[in-house]
Amino acid sequence: MSDLPDPSAVRVALWRALHVEADPPPHVLDDTLGLALAAPSDDFRQCRDMDLRATMRARASIVARARFTEDLVAERAAHGVRQYVLLGAGLDTFAQRNPALASTLRVFEVDAPASQAWKQRRLIELGLPPPEWLRFVPVDFEVTSAWESLVAAGFDRTVPAIVAALGVTMYLTEEAVVAMFRPLAGLAPGSTVVLTFAPPLELLEPEEWPARKATEAGARAGGTPWRSTFTPQQLTALVQTAGFRAVTHVSARALTERYFEGRADGLRPSSGEEILLVAP
Ligand SMILES: C[S@@+](CC[C@H](N)C(=O)[O-])C[C@H]1O[C@@H](n2cnc3c(N)ncnc32)[C@H](O)[C@@H]1O
Repeated sequence: MSDLPDPSAVRVALWRALHVEADPPPHVLDDTLGLALAAPSDDFRQCRDMDLRATMRARASIVARARFTEDLVAERAAHGVRQYVLLGAGLDTFAQRNPALASTLRVFEVDAPASQAWKQRRLIELGLPPPEWLRFVPVDFEVTSAWESLVAAGFDRTVPAIVAALGVTMYLTEEAVVAMFRPLAGLAPGSTVVLTFAPPLELLEPEEWPARKATEAGARAGGTPWRSTFTPQQLTALVQTAGFRAVTHVSARALTERYFEGRADGLRPSSGEEILLVAP
């Protein structure tokens, strides 16, 4: 199989870079390394899904979810948590951008085998070979559970972990989402799971309906179709059935208040992707 990046992972990495390049400071997240990894053609900014105005709120969601998660990692690490798992890591660059924090953890990046092979090759080409504390774990969530592979890669189920699945559930069938989360309920006490989900169209602000339809059409055309949407209540019920007890819904409005308050440019996250914070 040829090693090629997942198009959805490249798209969000480029949005993170465009946030730094095109949105006025303060920046919610400072991540341009994904652009270097993806190395798109010079005219990538002219592509329809890079249109700064049309993708403004999606771009804000992508930087908000990453910032929220990295703040959580810092907070949990300060309380002694030493394992961080990124399910569907894509072109996430936390390990390269924040070595001071990342090196205090064991970081596991789980992703589809072909995308991950491509990323490892690109990191080496950029002179960024993976440090000892970063482990790559190739898994197709539709085929196998990530958990045996994680344990084989050194994940310790008996101590707390932070697990993030950002921008992943919408690409999976409901069965694969359940299969991914059921073993997570057995994480050690003190663990935290942060995941994002796409609410169904009718829950979005109506002004965002065209952007959502375009995103779904683009994902289909790119060969990575969306497979599931959830209301916060549906996903809460699903993770509770999987065995989680504490569930907190972090809405787009809450992310706006936390990271975008007082901006003159009107940048704020889309209502099309929200966060669920869960603990076993
Ligand atoms: C939109 S990207 C998000 C990447 C990253 N979490 C971020 O926020 O930049 C979705 C990721 O999910 C991964 N993914 C989707 N379906 C998968 C599957 N069946 N098995 C493993 N990974 C999958 C893709 O390879 C991709 O890296």
